Amino acid sequence: MTENPYLTELQTTAKHLTQRGKGILAADESTGTIGKRLAILSLENTPETRRALREMLVCAPGNDEAYSGMILFQETLYQTDSSGKPFVSILKEKNILPGIKVDTGLKPVPESPGETTTDGLEDLSNRCASYYAQGARFAKWRAALRIDVNRGLPSDSVVHENARELATYAATAQSEGLLPIVEPEILIDGTHGQEVSAAVAERVISAVYDALREQNVPVELTLLKPMMIMPGVSSEERKNVTPDIVAVETLRVMKKVVPEQVPGIMFLSGGMSEEEATKNLNALNILAEKEKAPWSLSFSFGRALQHSAMKIWNGDKNNLEEAMQMASEVARANGRAQLGKFEGKHPSSGSESLYEGFRGWRGGAPKAV
Ligand code: 13P
Repeated sequence: MTENPYLTELQTTAKHLTQRGKGILAADESTGTIGKRLAILSLENTPETRRALREMLVCAPGNDEAYSGMILFQETLYQTDSSGKPFVSILKEKNILPGIKVDTGLKPVPESPGETTTDGLEDLSNRCASYYAQGARFAKWRAALRIDVNRGLPSDSVVHENARELATYAATAQSEGLLPIVEPEILIDGTHGQEVSAAVAERVISAVYDALREQNVPVELTLLKPMMIMPGVSSEERKNVTPDIVAVETLRVMKKVVPEQVPGIMFLSGGMSEEEATKNLNALNILAEKEKAPWSLSFSFGRALQHSAMKIWNGDKNNLEEAMQMASEVARANGRAQLGKFEGKHPSSGSESLYEGFRGWRGGAPKAV
């Protein structure tokens, strides 16, 4: 095998993204997904509204204390702040690495109604090369797996197909100089308990590392982005789950299936409230230090870093300063949680659940069969 010409840069990127006390903001919502969140604020989903929202998140003073990277949607990678300065240049000055979502969304699996794989492998290598040229240094690909105990979901074939796609994407991204974040999200939707979540996560994440090995992807040049191990959102257990319970089970599963060579596990927030996501990450890091976990455990949250700030902003320039302050405070709370040092009152506006049914499924939840 010939050596990857980007090897040293990929190593530096991995180190940068997993530095202590920092994590990643996932601000890479597709136009459809962000449109649903803007609609809640009665805002129109236009390129300018999206640009203004992303300006609030990119330019928030002090966010660089907590962010090592920011994942952008393709449109944002080429946008500028209101004075015409490219977002990519602003991020570079803040020492926040720009990342890019490279998948193009979920697609249904005809043979297994209600399950999905992910689109975007076509032309991926050319797109990665263009994103690198524009300043991106890491990438994200999201697979979404759904638990339905009665139907035996996720099905083995869909687990394996998603794992194969994630590995093909990771190899392609690496060969174009982008450090791949490998995201097999197990959706929080469902009535299953935590034990089922753990068993499914073991199955899914093991399949991902098998596929990476089969495709000769060096895992030390990848990051994993999983959901924490929690009961389904509609289960009885959900009400009683505590950060310590989540931390114990999440760490147990990760230790079982994630190779030591992986530099970082950057969790998604998946519908947890802002406060819950921070507290769970904090508990995880306290436990990980005690148990000497081999990887950095951090955040790559979307909703749990944006919700309160977005509400304050509400599309109005006059609210920008206050919204930016909230965005940075929530970011810094998570930076402290990465160190296991978050305490006191959470800066967000409350413990409101950020659950969205079957996120990313076009047209809402899949029909039951
Ligand atoms: P949430 O943290 O809102 O789940 O989003 C993270 C993400 O990037 C999922 O792809």
